[in-house]
Amino acid sequence: MPLLAFETSCDESSAAVVERGRVLSNLTSSQVQLHAEYGGVVPELAAREHLRNLIPLARKAMKSAGVDPQSLKAVAATQGPGLPSALMVGLKAAQAVAFAQRCPFIGIHHHEAHLYSPWIQGNPPQADFSQFQPNVSLVVSGGHTLLVHLQAESRTHLLGSTLDDAAGECLDKVGKLIGLAYPAGAEIEQLAQQGEPGAFSFPRPMLHESNDDFSFSGLKTSVRYFLRDHPKLVKDPQRVRDLCASVQAAIVEVLVTKTVRAARRLHVQCVTASGGVTCNRRLRQSLAEACHQHQLEIRLAQPALCTDNASMIGVLAERKFLAGQPASSLDEEVLPGWELG
Ligand code: KG4
Ligand code: ZN
Repeated sequence: MPLLAFETSCDESSAAVVERGRVLSNLTSSQVQLHAEYGGVVPELAAREHLRNLIPLARKAMKSAGVDPQSLKAVAATQGPGLPSALMVGLKAAQAVAFAQRCPFIGIHHHEAHLYSPWIQGNPPQADFSQFQPNVSLVVSGGHTLLVHLQAESRTHLLGSTLDDAAGECLDKVGKLIGLAYPAGAEIEQLAQQGEPGAFSFPRPMLHESNDDFSFSGLKTSVRYFLRDHPKLVKDPQRVRDLCASVQAAIVEVLVTKTVRAARRLHVQCVTASGGVTCNRRLRQSLAEACHQHQLEIRLAQPALCTDNASMIGVLAERKFLAGQPASSLDEEVLPGWELG
């Protein structure tokens, strides 16, 4: 029997149908255009868009999967962390469907879903946990930058997180400084392809500290001062490409070095990565090279599952359901500050 899942923690409305680890359908409506003119996500607008989009997406996802609401074995939604009003739309919609269909509701931790997303591969995507092994997992997006030790399935230990800006947020803010549209990560990557990563030297925050935390606001500030001191740079396209390549190189070096260092310290054989910034090819390549060098297996979420999506919510919810984890109450509320582990 299939499971219906919703994800509305930030600015993607997403509905997916999952059965035995297979993603039968996943439809996502991105609100990027809507928020671009404000230079960031406006929570109230995000919630209204979710309200408008979610039920039509759910209907289409079920239709394209060939699934009747009556046949659902469970309904899942992201319960936290995230924007309270945005989370509420997905959570309450899922609880309402579960109530109407008299099936269990399962509330899912958004970061926990990211942690298992690298184990969903293929087209159509299929989760395969048969090869699962303890790993160190990097979750890196516009809202979060986390390093987590997955000691076993369902046994997570948060190693570190960003003390201020997330890596994607840093890229978005640098993009704003050089006049790029929000979110800027993908465009910075594109510009960086023809830039020189060693052109400008930007700080590698916390690279040499022995903890597993990150900090990216200082990097953003150093780019701001650099542009203040070189005001003509933004008018020179090649210098802008060099700047993008240099900033990207600084961020990637910190993420890769700290991830691999944690994996080696903890004696795991596997590293995984997910979240919107994991779409970045330079990060994917550098992480793969560093893992290869240290004989670590690398598993990267496929790009379509790096950004927020309901497939990862559905896969994790089904896993919990089949493992016999009790359903969540239909009265449960959103947990915007829900901490991992
Ligand atoms: O996971 P996501 O869709 O949403 C959350 O922030 O939770 O991630 C979006 C973030 C943005 O900061 C965006 O600039 C960044 O991921 N991003 C990228 C790339 N594609 C998206 N960063 C670097 N390179 C990319 N190709
Ligand atoms: Zn996310």
